[in-house]
Amino acid sequence: MTSLWRAAMGHFTHIPVLYKQVLEALCPTPGGVFVDCTAGLGGHAEGVARLIGATGTVVLIDLDEGNLSRAAERIRGLPDAPSVRTVHGNFSEAHHHLRKWGMMADMLLADLGFASTQVDDPARGLSFMRDGPLDMRLNQRAKRSAADLVAELSEAELEKIIREWGEERHSRRVARAIVEARREGAIVTTHALAEVVRSVVPRGPGDHIDPATRTFQGLRIAVNDELGNLEVLLEALVDGARGFGARWLNEGARVALISFHSLEDRLVKRAMGEIVRGGLGVEVGEQPTVAGDAEAKENPRSRSAKLRAVRLCTRG
Ligand SMILES: C[S@@+](CC[C@H](N)C(=O)[O-])C[C@H]1O[C@@H](n2cnc3c(N)ncnc32)[C@H](O)[C@@H]1O
Repeated sequence: MTSLWRAAMGHFTHIPVLYKQVLEALCPTPGGVFVDCTAGLGGHAEGVARLIGATGTVVLIDLDEGNLSRAAERIRGLPDAPSVRTVHGNFSEAHHHLRKWGMMADMLLADLGFASTQVDDPARGLSFMRDGPLDMRLNQRAKRSAADLVAELSEAELEKIIREWGEERHSRRVARAIVEARREGAIVTTHALAEVVRSVVPRGPGDHIDPATRTFQGLRIAVNDELGNLEVLLEALVDGARGFGARWLNEGARVALISFHSLEDRLVKRAMGEIVRGGLGVEVGEQPTVAGDAEAKENPRSRSAKLRAVRLCTRG
């Protein structure tokens, strides 16, 4: 165990995904400015905060108000806590906030997707393990829930979401089944939707996942415009590395992104590649860095996690 890792661990009970690798990639030093695009429960942020100390600054961003305030409380409660700024909003706006404040980031992290507080709460409708309203909004102030999409989109629109973002081979069948089922009555619960999917998607003998999983992933991505927001963040990062517009990333800034499915990782890999091939930064660590056997065993979610990180070059 490195001293960096030990110093940052504090007294964790829950360890965030690829925690040690994220801290190694970000390499926090006292007084640094850290932008956590996905504050979540503040696990990674706590690790960074302990290392940047009282002269540092942590900017916490999250779509989820509950998670954001939990994370902020956690960081503010640390001994030698850094200054904390919070943004209840989308990380696609991160660069606008930093420019508005005249602040430049030394480290930036996006640990994409959802937190355990969200997926474990049936009221959020992200999982069909327990029945709940078909919601799926990470930002509870957002207008359209998954139930709204399922009720309002055309069969062709549903099919596209389920095929492209759910990566479901039987997307046409599922979309047709949804449209037929909603004629009988609105589909407003997670169990109701899962049953509609299961009625038309066979579970193969070697299938480890429930047939409804892919449809749920597609709808969640659509409800939260997950790939659209990621693209905006990545574009702002590449522009920041190029020095386009007002500066929001410091020279030598370290940027780390953790993705959980191939659709996200493809976008992250492309943006990181642009930075590296453009001579604007260098890769940090394995590309991608994945969980070791022990973490994968302890935390099933870490099995699909891929971390990619770069350190921006200093300009001459
Ligand atoms: C995997 S959790 C982050 C966990 C965190 N790294 C930790 O150590 O506790 C992802 C968080 O990102 C938030 N989130 C997802 N997409 C977002 C976006 N576009 N903008 C801001 N927050 C987002 C979710 O609400 C969730 O709280």
